[in-house]
Parts: sequence; structure tokens; C-alpha cells
Amino acid sequence: MTRFEAVKTGLRAHPRVWLITGVAGFIGSNLLEALLALDQTVVGLDNFSTGYRHNLDDVRGLAGEARWQNFRFIEGDIRDLDQCRQACAGADFVLHQAALGSVPRSLEDPLTTNASNITGFLNMLVAARDAGVKGFVYAASSSTYGNHPGLPKIEECIGAPLSPYAVTKYVNELYAGVFARCYGFRSIGLRYFNIFGRRQDPDGAYAAVIPKWIAGLLRGEPAHINGDGETSRDFCYIDNAVQANLLAATAESGQAWDQVYNVAVGERTSLNALFHMIRARLALEYPHLKDVEPIHRDFRAGDVRHSLADISKASRLLGYAPSDPIEQGLDKAMRWYTQSLGGAAR
Ligand SMILES: NC(=O)c1ccc[n+]([C@@H]2O[C@H](COP(=O)([O-])OP(=O)(O)OC[C@H]3O[C@@H](n4cnc5c(N)ncnc54)[C@H](O)[C@@H]3O)[C@@H](O)[C@H]2O)c1
Repeated sequence: MTRFEAVKTGLRAHPRVWLITGVAGFIGSNLLEALLALDQTVVGLDNFSTGYRHNLDDVRGLAGEARWQNFRFIEGDIRDLDQCRQACAGADFVLHQAALGSVPRSLEDPLTTNASNITGFLNMLVAARDAGVKGFVYAASSSTYGNHPGLPKIEECIGAPLSPYAVTKYVNELYAGVFARCYGFRSIGLRYFNIFGRRQDPDGAYAAVIPKWIAGLLRGEPAHINGDGETSRDFCYIDNAVQANLLAATAESGQAWDQVYNVAVGERTSLNALFHMIRARLALEYPHLKDVEPIHRDFRAGDVRHSLADISKASRLLGYAPSDPIEQGLDKAMRWYTQSLGGAAR
């Protein structure tokens, strides 16, 4: 039995109370779906700045009314310490996802990004520490590798941040380390690498590339590639990220805590290759898309050129074993997007 299977069996037998911040967002709503399916009690906090009620409605439909009763939603803001305290009360574990994502957003508005990603993060650490939670797992980011040229990325070797967003995510790690050293507060940071899958927002100026391309192509809009398309990423399907969160929160070995881990697959895919993978899948159902070509435009400021994770630390200390490589993840994501948006293309 894998550690993940054992953890799920243990949680079913002894349900816990979880707080998910950013629960109405992409990753948060997927964590909610997974925890409700395991009969856990969940509190969710979100201010709907980039998350949606329809994400919660989607999870409600999947969970069913009986399990949905195990969920309590607080509409609130992590920039408000009292709301963080209210949300943390009684929680065994915190999965802290709330933040303003996106490198370009942070370049345009560093102050708002800072307030949610640093002040909000510190509020959550204080509230979780004071509430005596057993474990605090937070969304860190591969952007912390900044301009370090090494590939694959290993947790100990980071460069200078290339955007305000990257600074905020690195500061999260620094604060988490200080809370471990000064207050003995246990946390784990998960450095996500380009997570994708169901419920990731395809719309808006700051949408991630996979949902943006899928939705755009289905709507007959052009797909843009920033730069020559040889920029590469370690695209990681959402179920892998969910697994990492559950493994981290329930880590038993003391060695596993007060650490950061890469959460990825360990596969590097260029944007050009990604476009072809998406187009080939869409063309099976929408033959008119089989010859559509992307439009290249300038490189985007603040973007890292290449990204690829070494996932051996998460594997060794957490028992992390990604279930879905990129092609399999794309198959699943595509099914979800074509069901949700596909009508537009027919
Ligand atoms: N998706 C990725 O590839 C990726 C990569 C690296 C890191 N991350 C991090 O993972 C986390 C989740 O990202 P996501 O992709 O699900 O983004 P998302 O925008 O879908 O979800 C973030 C959620 O946090 C909420 N939120 C933002 N500011 C808040 C505030 N001040 N108070 C309360 N709620 C607030 C938003 O409304 C939203 O529901 C973020 O911390 C992000 O920085 C994501």
C-alpha cells in the first residue's frame, strides 16, 4: 500500500477538521472535493477576489448533500486577523492556499499582492499558531527559484526573485522558518510547479496557459505564445497537488516538517509541445481545430525561461508519487473543460 492510500484509509477511519483558505479557488476547491470525499470536516475561507461561488457549487454537486453538511464556509479575508482566528478555531490542519497568484498581476499591482500574500500569510501563521493547529501546509511556488540557472530545480538552490509575486512566496518560506525556530510552530511549504486541471479559471488577464488555450480555442479565439515557444515548464495535474497536501499535513516524521518541497511531476514540456498536445486532443472532438496555429508575441516580463523539478525530496520524506503525468492529466482536464465549455465550439 502506498503512503497516500494509507493516509486516506487513516483519515476515513478518524476524520479530522481541516481549514482550507482560498477554498473557492482552483486548488482550494479541489482540496475541498478530496477531503469531503474522505468524510472530513472542512472549514473554508475565501474573499472571492479570484475564486468563484460556482467552484463551491460544483464541489457541492460532486459531494452530495450529506457530505456537504460537513463543510462550513466563511466569506472573509486573510488580511483581517480576526477572520483568520475565527477560521482557525478548532482546526486540526490548515491548508493555506489563499493568495493573489500571477506574476504579471504582481508587476502591475505589487501592493495588493503584498497585502494578501505577505500580511495575509503572517496573519494566518499567527492565527494557526494561537489556535494550536497540528500542522500548517501552505502554497509556496516554483517562482522562488528565480534566476537560478540549475535544472532540475532542487529545493536548496534558489536564485534572485524575478517578480514581486516571487518575493511574496519566498517571504512566506522565511516566515514559516522563523515561526518554527522561534515558536516551534510546524509547517510545510509546497512549491507548486504550474498546476492545472478542473476548475482552473480560463478567463481574465491573468489566466494560466492551459485553461486559457483550451477555452480560447473552443471559443474560436487565437492562442498566443509568449516568445519563441521553447520556454518550458513542469506542468503538474491537480490530483498530484492534492496528494502532496494530504501527505504533508499528515506527515509523521519530525524530519518532514519545517521544510519546503517541490510539487511537480519531473517532466519538462515546452510551450510549443504543450500547444500541440492540446490541439491534438481538441481536434478529436472538434476537427476544425486540427490545423489551428498559435500566434507568437513578445516574451513576458518576469517569466522564468525553463522550469523542471527534482521531486525526490517529496518522494523521500512525504512518500509523494505523482499519479498523473502531463499527458494523462491533460486528457482528464480536457474532458472537464469540453464538458463545461464545449458547447461554444459546436
Ligand atoms: N496554480 C498554480 O500553478 C500555482 C503555482 C504556484 C503557486 N500557486 C499558489 O497556490 C495557491 C492557490 O492558487 P490557485 O491556482 O488555486 O489560485 P486561485 O486564484 O484559483 O485561488 C486563490 C484563492 O484565494 C482567494 N484569495 C485571494 N486573496 C484572498 C484574501 N486576501 N482573503 C481570502 N481569500 C483570498 C481567492 O479568492 C481564490 O479563491 C496560491 O497561493 C498560489 O499563489 C499556484
